[in-house]
Amino acid sequence: MGSTAAAAAITGCTPVRPGSSPAQSGSPAPFADGPNIQGAVPITLRINRNDHHLRIDPRATLLDCIRETVALTGTKKGCDHGQCGACTVHVNGRRVNSCLSLALLHDGAEITTIEGLGTPDALHPMQAAFLTHDGYQCGYCTSGQIMSAVALLKEPCGPTDADVKELMSGNICRCGAYQNIVAAIQHVRKKS
Ligand code: FES
Ligand code: FES
Repeated sequence: MGSTAAAAAITGCTPVRPGSSPAQSGSPAPFADGPNIQGAVPITLRINRNDHHLRIDPRATLLDCIRETVALTGTKKGCDHGQCGACTVHVNGRRVNSCLSLALLHDGAEITTIEGLGTPDALHPMQAAFLTHDGYQCGYCTSGQIMSAVALLKEPCGPTDADVKELMSGNICRCGAYQNIVAAIQHVRKKS
């Protein structure tokens, strides 16, 4: 099974051949080695300012399409049940658990993943603060923590550490780096 076929089997998504946009053909052809997903629907996922034309099983989650089809693996799958926050991304500027969200609901929406936040040479201030404050150990939860923390900056949140902990309570860290995560977030909040 080729990599495209494997990804499609896992996620129910397959990329559309470049140049055969859904708008042009109405029934876009998959890559030659891609399986024909029964009941698949065309969709454009706009991730980090790039459009991805896909054919997806309507039941496919946003998380699986991001990781397995678009191959942006910075977004993590932890529980796959909406309990850990490892899969957090932004949809139109708001944080979303992508494991609980159907990709079909986000046709044309502005989706941002950790890869779209900053670059190694120009980190987002929250990424830099996590580094400075050692806001991680194994790193598995970190992309979700950072995506939640960046969204939190625009949400109504009181000034105390307890306020931050409350709004970050949907993001679990098995390594227990919570104290440093809160310190990193408070550092950015005080500077912005
Ligand atoms: S993987 Fe989505 S909340 Fe855990
Ligand atoms: S740094 Fe390991 S789970 Fe959070």
